[in-house]
Order: sequence, then structure tokens, then C-alpha cells
Amino acid sequence: MAQEEIFKKLVAHCKEYGYVFQSSEIYDGLSAVYDYGQYGVELKNNIKKYWWDSMVLLHENVVGIDSAIFMHPTIWKASGHVDAFNDPLIDNKDSKKRYRADVLVEDQLAKFEEKINKEIEKAHKRFGDAFDEQQFRETNQRVVDNQKKYDDLHERFSKALNDNNLEELKQIIIDQEIVCPVSGTRNWTDVRQFNLMFSTEMGSTSEGAMKVYLRPETAQGIFVNYLNVQKSGRMKIPFGIAQIGKAFRNEIVARQFIFRMREFEQMEMQFFVRPGTELDWFEKWKELRMQWHQALGFGAENYRFHEHEKLAHYANAAVDVEFKFPFGFKEVEGIHSRTDFDLSQHEKYSGKKVRYFDPELNESYVPFVVETSIGVDRMFLQVISAAYHEEQLEKDSRVVLKLPPVLAPVKLAVMPLVKKDGLPEKAREIIDRLKFGFNCQYDEKDSIGKRYRRQDAIGTPFCVTVDHQTTTDNTVTIRYRDSMEQERVNIADLDTIIGEKVSMRRLFEKQ
Ligand code: GAP
Repeated sequence: MAQEEIFKKLVAHCKEYGYVFQSSEIYDGLSAVYDYGQYGVELKNNIKKYWWDSMVLLHENVVGIDSAIFMHPTIWKASGHVDAFNDPLIDNKDSKKRYRADVLVEDQLAKFEEKINKEIEKAHKRFGDAFDEQQFRETNQRVVDNQKKYDDLHERFSKALNDNNLEELKQIIIDQEIVCPVSGTRNWTDVRQFNLMFSTEMGSTSEGAMKVYLRPETAQGIFVNYLNVQKSGRMKIPFGIAQIGKAFRNEIVARQFIFRMREFEQMEMQFFVRPGTELDWFEKWKELRMQWHQALGFGAENYRFHEHEKLAHYANAAVDVEFKFPFGFKEVEGIHSRTDFDLSQHEKYSGKKVRYFDPELNESYVPFVVETSIGVDRMFLQVISAAYHEEQLEKDSRVVLKLPPVLAPVKLAVMPLVKKDGLPEKAREIIDRLKFGFNCQYDEKDSIGKRYRRQDAIGTPFCVTVDHQTTTDNTVTIRYRDSMEQERVNIADLDTIIGEKVSMRRLFEKQ
């Protein structure tokens, strides 16, 4: 099945099984804003816990904070967001549709890449094990031609972005004969910059009202609290501050479900280091973050690092962790070496010293910062797209969410075989025993087979069935979601069997 089809089904599945709903759906929805349902919120909370604990439990020099969404508006001037947090946009005059000019060019680059990959795939099938990809890339004329087109465009595009050259960006779109997907025409406006911050007013009277922004990143809340945390926590450099919270961006192009939203959540960590050591820490955090992703077991081949075409105004190194979504490799997390840009700017704009006295060097300096920044919602999409499977079985088929047990919203379903003979009471007894440690669900409706399918679709890793034998010897069957195997175990052992499989410790030990 085409990946696009699978993605559509995944989105429908998320709605049908209480994971993600369109915001304001009964009013026809609000574009690029989503609500999380009863299972979605549990998965999201588990993802956040996985991140939070990996930061603040595993690193004794990383602490957390929770700063407010509203901040003094000068912060956004200092950080550069008022002047430079822009996307280049372009309109098609016939369809009146608006696009990000850089995304149109990136899609064009992806087309060349796709053509190359198709040729390689075909040749691989034809030549089997004898296939030498390197040689094929160098000698196949179609691949060589497309690679050249890709490289030329890539070079021209990177230069236009780095020079902030909007005319050149438009010229690239014209030269590449890129058409509007809706009207099919090349009738484009000029490229303009569009600031992504939402603003509102704070204060009760119109004269006294102050323009404030909804934060477009949580990071600034960390920067402006750097000194508070360093002093109150007597933190010594190097140390980190972690935060999870909402961020808002007026995205021009909202697409791919929860991949690009206007209201979303970030998990960010700023690591404050001695100047000159930042690139070593950048490498260290790059490695740690990749381990964190891969510990979930979705396959190392589904991740890659992507170097930035254009460094943000504050960075001296930057890389994205990309995951292979059904719509291709896309960014999930950014790791940036932000130099001393933010703290220095806050010194300048606030007039307050934001320095660290380094007792080893016997000098004060503005610390440099390495940032790790990941979107909760993108991580959610990563997890759910990796977990979604349609399986053909001997007699029927099933849709199963193979979520890592540690992240699954419901850990176990307890099912009495029949609704009589004391089996429901026994099932409730088991839940009462286990509910303090695990999210349990009682399920007595429909046949056992249907109940298994329902739990598979939710992603419940364990189903425990109570039958007549249970009332005599206190044993139950436990059925494992992925293998569908069943075994008979003592009720007294459930805690250990399940506890061992859903423990975050197992994941942390891999990091
Ligand atoms: N503080 C740095 C920063 O905000 P970013 O690359 O703009 O960097 C970091 O964002 C992460 O936040 C991204 O890798 C992505 O996971 C998430 N993110 C950014 N914009 C988003 C959006 N509109 N919708 C969902 N997630 C988003």
C-alpha cells in the first residue's frame, strides 16, 4: 500500500481510537490545531516522562523549570524573533493559495532525490547481491543527470537562503518551473517575509494595553531564568535547564496532521558551558539524543542526522534528528550550538549582568549554550507512525499499534471470559491489585477475539484473561500483543512480568 494511503489510515485510526481529534471539530475545525483524546493524552504524558526523566534523572547537572507563556515583550526583540523569526511566503495569483517559498524548492529537491532512489531500487532488484550502488551512482546516466540537477539547485538554494535573497528565491521557483498544486499555473507573486509570532494585548484599557507575544519557543523562558536557577541551585558550569511547555507559531503552511501545528509543545534543554567547549558538548548531546530515540526500538535505519542549509542567526553549529515518517525523512528534533548569543542579548537589552564566575579559571564570562529541542507532537507522530501495523493473519486481519510497552497508554486489559460465575469479580480484584502501578482497563463486552482486536488497536501490550480455572488455582492467561502468544501464569507474578516490560529503566540502561 502506498505510504500516503497508510498515513491517511493512521490519521483516521487516531480519531477512531481516541488519540487525536481535530480542534473545534463540531464547528468544522480550526486549521493546524488539534486536541488529544483519552489515549492520546496518556501517550503524550508518557513521552514527556521519558524525555524529562532522561534529562533530570540521568543527569545530576540538569534541572527543570516551568516558565510562563507570556513574557516581557522586549525578550522577543532581544532574541531576534521580532525582526528575524520569518518564513518566506509566496502566493499563487490564480488559486490565491499561499506557500512557503523554501518548502516549494525543498519539494523540488525531494523530487530529484526520489527519481535517483527509484533508479537505484530498480537496479538493485535487477542485479541482486551483485549490485554495486556506488558504481551505479557514478555511471548510470539518468542518476548522474538527476544528481547534477539536485546539486546545482541545492547550491543555488542554500546561497539564496543564506543571503536572505528573496528575489533569487522567486527566480529559482520560476526557473525550476514549479507550479501551484491547486491551479497548476506559474503565476506567482513576489516572495515576502512573514513573522510567525502570534500577539495579543495585556492590560485592561486600550491606552494601557501592552502588546505581548505567545512564545514561539520555550527556550527564552530558560535563558531569562538562567541566573535565578544558577544562583538558587548553586549550579556549576557545565549544567543544563530543561523545560516542557506550549509554543505557538502562525505557520503559513500547515500540513501533515500534527507534524506542523500552530499550537504545539516543546521539550527543550539549554546546556550552559564554558566558551570554547561548546562544539565538544554539541557532539556529546548529538550522540545522547540519538541514543534516546533509538532506544525505543524503531530501527536505526529510520533515523538520520541532517546538517542545516542555513544556520540560524544565533548558531555556530546545528543539526536535525530526522525520522522516516510515512511522508519521508523529516525533522523531529534540533540540536543547536547557540553560542552566547541569547544571554549576551539579554544582558544588552535588560541592562543586567548575566555572567558566571568560574572559580577554576578565576574569571567571569557569559556562558555558551548547547540546546536540544524536540516537539512533543512530532515525537508523538514518530511513535504512532512507527507503531501502526496492518497485519494479515491466517483467518482475518488486524490493525495493531505496536507501541513500546513503556509508552503505551493502557498497559493491560483484564477480561473475564464470561460475565458470570464470579469471573468479573475476580477480574476486578486483579485490577485493584495492579492499578497503583499500571494503567489497567476492565473489558467484558463482546467475544474474547473482538476484545483482543480492540486492545490491539489501542496498543495495549498485555491482555489478561480470567477463566473458570482462575477461581480454583489463581492463574490467568496473559496474551502478548505483538506475538499474540499466550501463557498461563500466577496472578501473583503479573506485577513482576508486566513491571519488567514497562519499566523506563530498561530504556535508560541502553543510553
Ligand atoms: N528553540 C529552538 C527551536 O525552537 P525549532 O527547530 O524551531 O527550534 C524545535 O523547533 C522543534 O520543535 C522541532 O524540531 C519540532 O520538533 C518542533 N516544532 C517546531 N515547530 C513546530 C510546529 N509548528 N508544529 C509542531 N512541532 C514543531
